[in-house]
Amino acid sequence: MKRLVIAIDGPSGAGKGTVSRTVSQRLGYLHVDTGAMYRAVAWKAAYEGVPLDDDAQLSALARRASYEQADGTITIDGHDVTRAIRTPDMDKAAASVARLPAVREVLVGKQRALGAKGGVVMEGRDIGTVVFPNADVKLYIDASAEVRAQRRAADASHSGSQSGITSVQSDMAARDQADSTRAVAPLTKADDAVYIDTTDMPIEAVVHRVMMLIAEAVEP
Ligand code: DC
Repeated sequence: MKRLVIAIDGPSGAGKGTVSRTVSQRLGYLHVDTGAMYRAVAWKAAYEGVPLDDDAQLSALARRASYEQADGTITIDGHDVTRAIRTPDMDKAAASVARLPAVREVLVGKQRALGAKGGVVMEGRDIGTVVFPNADVKLYIDASAEVRAQRRAADASHSGSQSGITSVQSDMAARDQADSTRAVAPLTKADDAVYIDTTDMPIEAVVHRVMMLIAEAVEP
């Protein structure tokens, strides 16, 4: 059976991560969390003392970095950064790094290589618009700002989760605004993406909907 490219975009806390992971496991596909790539570059920049707005140095760093995602573990140049990249500081640092055109070019190239043979569920902000505009299935997963903040606050893998819901919500709103209004590859729904509002949907219902859409793409 044809191995598809499935592109999942949307803002933070909408449920992209859980849906992408579950769907990739059910299909036996590779799961690529592209946000983690931006986070890992931001982490390595802080580790090496490279300023977060230095596009030339950061894109060189991103190009030579060896980056791996497997079994829930994320490593960059041999450092296990699985937990270290999910902090409020890294939320901000990753959003800065994601603004830089040359860094994006390098990471988009790596993402295209990972999905070149199909059989991939890739999540991010620009997968259906920039990375794989010809993806077989394109989804835009959204939820209300309140529910997204609640999900982030309850996310045990994110160490900012102890802070109050109001501050989580305002930090998230600021980053979503930055991601949606930046000059290069802003967060936006591709015209041909299916919009799914997960505000009142349990995760299993979202996964079911996505699996139905994938089945339709395989046998229209
Ligand atoms: O999904 P996330 O919160 O882990 O993403 C981290 C940052 O990277 C966030 O500011 C959005 C940005 N990002 C991006 O610009 N493009 C992507 N494809 C994925 C993430």
